[in-house]
Amino acid sequence: MAEISKEKIEKILELFKKCIEKVENEKELEEVKVKFLGRKSDFNQIMKGLKDLSDGDKKEIGSYANEVKKNMATILEDRFESMKNKEFSNKEWLDVTAPGEKRKIGRLNILSQTQKEIEDIFISMGFEVVDGPEIETEWYNFDALNVPKNHPARDAWDTFWLKQKTSSGERLAPRPHTSPMQIRYMEKHQPPFRVIIPGRCFRHEAIDANHEHTFYQFEALLVGDDITVANFKDVAKKFFSVFFGKEIEVRLRPSYFPFTEPSFEFDISCTVCGGRGCKSCKHNGWLEVGGAGMVNQRVFEAAGYEKGRYQGFAWGFGIERLAMMKYKIDDIRIFRSGDLRIIIS
Ligand code: DAH
Repeated sequence: MAEISKEKIEKILELFKKCIEKVENEKELEEVKVKFLGRKSDFNQIMKGLKDLSDGDKKEIGSYANEVKKNMATILEDRFESMKNKEFSNKEWLDVTAPGEKRKIGRLNILSQTQKEIEDIFISMGFEVVDGPEIETEWYNFDALNVPKNHPARDAWDTFWLKQKTSSGERLAPRPHTSPMQIRYMEKHQPPFRVIIPGRCFRHEAIDANHEHTFYQFEALLVGDDITVANFKDVAKKFFSVFFGKEIEVRLRPSYFPFTEPSFEFDISCTVCGGRGCKSCKHNGWLEVGGAGMVNQRVFEAAGYEKGRYQGFAWGFGIERLAMMKYKIDDIRIFRSGDLRIIIS
């Protein structure tokens, strides 16, 4: 049993007063109340122990303890009261000269914005924008694009195959690229035409800063009687120059895609250094953007055109990659991460 004395009670009161002085808000005040008057407080232990004192002490120390208890309770009440008043008057206080708080406003995801910017530029160049199904048959995804079954070229598209098949037993897959829409569009339209197909694609791919299993591609297809690679270069140069707001050069490198012949990968002059060489372009002056080529006549045939009748170019690139270049984003995963910087202005 702890010793009970007037001095001890006095010390508790002093300590209580010190604590009260430091209190800044209601929460702290509540804590002080619990600490000094709560069930487990030293003071409560003393109050409980009073009954075991001698009659004389009980009377003297007891009445002192009661007085202190009342004292502490009154101080606490006063502080609660004044704190409430203070809070109230704080709320009422209005400084009309204080600077305004900037409201954060939600907007389209940067990716959707980029897609719109791209669409607008192509529309201004006379292109039509079309959409296509995200789940495609094997025919549109591959066969019609001259990617034969069991051909190693198919491995380039890490495809998720679905268990469900079409009613005629054909395999289905979430499209791994937007190229199948070339065929669907050509089945319904006769050249000349120019069209772009933005859309979501899916690949069974390991995810890192540059790869996502779900991403956006952008397909362009321009077909007519006498389209050449020069037309492609011109359209690409104009598009990228408007998109990045500066003069951009386009460079072609030989490549292979089953649906184009000849095929090329194309690069654009570095959007940061303009081609002189910097960290962004790993000091070679160029940035890789996508694949392109002159449409393979077999693709025209698969879409129902007469072989050799038309010429056209096609190209495809990732929208994320362009958005990353334009807005200096260094990780593709951020677009769908919920990071507020992507959707708040
Ligand atoms: N579909 C290709 C891919 O996903 C990209 C591509 C390359 C599209 C060349 C084209 C093209 O239209 O001509 O890898």
